[in-house]
Amino acid sequence: MKAISTPEVEIPPFIRGKERGSYWITTFGCQMNKADSERMAGILQSMGYQEASAELNADLVLYNTCSIRDNAEQKVYSYLGRQAQRKHDFPGLKLIVAGCVAQQEGEALLRRVPELDLVMGPQHANRLETLLNQVDNGQQVVATDEYLILEDLTTAKRDSKICAWVNVIYGCNERCTYCVVPSVRGKEQSRAPEAIKHEIEGLAALGYKEITLLGQNIDAYGRDLPGISSTGRRTNTLTDLLAFVHDVDGIERIRFATSHPRYFTSRLIQACADLPKLCEHFHIPFQSGSNEVLKAMGRGYTIERYKRILDQIRKLMPDASISADVIVAFPGESDSQFRETLSIVEELGFDQVNTAAYSPRPNTPAAKWPNQLPELIKVERLKELNALVEKVAKGRNGRYMGRIEEVLIEGFSPKNKNQLMGRTRTNRLTFFQSDGIQAGAYNPGDLVQVQINKVHSFSVSGIAL
Ligand code: SAH
Ligand code: SF4
Ligand code: F3S
Repeated sequence: MKAISTPEVEIPPFIRGKERGSYWITTFGCQMNKADSERMAGILQSMGYQEASAELNADLVLYNTCSIRDNAEQKVYSYLGRQAQRKHDFPGLKLIVAGCVAQQEGEALLRRVPELDLVMGPQHANRLETLLNQVDNGQQVVATDEYLILEDLTTAKRDSKICAWVNVIYGCNERCTYCVVPSVRGKEQSRAPEAIKHEIEGLAALGYKEITLLGQNIDAYGRDLPGISSTGRRTNTLTDLLAFVHDVDGIERIRFATSHPRYFTSRLIQACADLPKLCEHFHIPFQSGSNEVLKAMGRGYTIERYKRILDQIRKLMPDASISADVIVAFPGESDSQFRETLSIVEELGFDQVNTAAYSPRPNTPAAKWPNQLPELIKVERLKELNALVEKVAKGRNGRYMGRIEEVLIEGFSPKNKNQLMGRTRTNRLTFFQSDGIQAGAYNPGDLVQVQINKVHSFSVSGIAL
């Protein structure tokens, strides 16, 4: 393991503000990558780059990549092929690969695509300006060493004006046997509670109404921070953080993701029920319904524990929506173990389940096991599970029919400009109409009461009251 570098001194950006050309960022993968891309876009703009109108005429192209499964990784190579070709006609093009594939492949990416200017891992996202200055000095740069993530002093260029991501913990110290994240995102690094609150206050001042606190394993928040009470309890847990940031004026809703069943505490559930801005939606992956498979995955909980968590949530917040992630055809998964997963989906009534067939990943233990399952089984199990998930989710969605829900308006429906779009507290996408829309009676950021009169598979629609 390489040593963590010490923070570097910020170099005054002497060419800041100068016209630099246009940039294009394509983001693959999870919310963590989306948040990193928004910060990198902010850095590029502060350096004088403007957003390009199209990928194929940008002066700087950055792919923020994902390596969670092989198909996610392969996407970037096809995108890169096109840009590498373009660089032969337009040598001024700056080509950057950031994110998890960059970290995983490092210098091997330069050998594969010699046209690249910069390969940078996720821990280096906030250093984009320094790294680009090195590129401008004529270097081909690879930044994948383990790095202490610095607070970003640039304002992120966020996609939404209403809902914002706020990183609270980077990296992951778990060792799930299938997962590439710990090796590409590095060790856990929690941000200081004061820095997080400061960012949220800044967002509130800009008019943001909803924040989602982010971490790959958000329940690990604070493990690496000081803070123990006289009774020996840690005082910098996620529960403490939620209480600490809750009262920022202007912020109406708070969410967090992703929860890990191993560390999800009763204290946290109680806090979510007690704190009014905490929304009743929880994303808690269970991965498999079989205890043997969970053990082989190294998840550190049983399915009974998982069920107890859901019971506790529903006892205190009966209408809470629950989403999860599941992997099928993990090495050695038998047909009956797969059926245990199906019965959990059926029994627990999820609002949404993200499903995937197991994909062997570099530098992970399970990839080397001899009991890999054939492609056909992966496809069949995924198909069967997806059909069940759709049925269950649709059934759950039915409960909204006729109800009055509080919706935070995010903007107009992309398909129908006479409809506004937002989400319920339970994170259900909602479209609604009203005579007042044309008259401008509603604005993004408003909270409105909507009577639901139609239920679709993944959304609901209704009329504003
Ligand atoms: N930190 C989260 C999830 C991170 S990755 C957690 O602990 O649950 C997002 C999802 O991708 C995982 O929940 C898992 O369902 C899926 N995933 C991760 N590695 C995978 C692999 N090798 N093959 C298939 N799916 C995978
Ligand atoms: Fe991957 Fe497990 Fe960490 Fe989630 S908790 S990111 S699945 S290693
Ligand atoms: Fe993908 Fe990296 Fe996120 S592998 S899922 S972008 S942490």
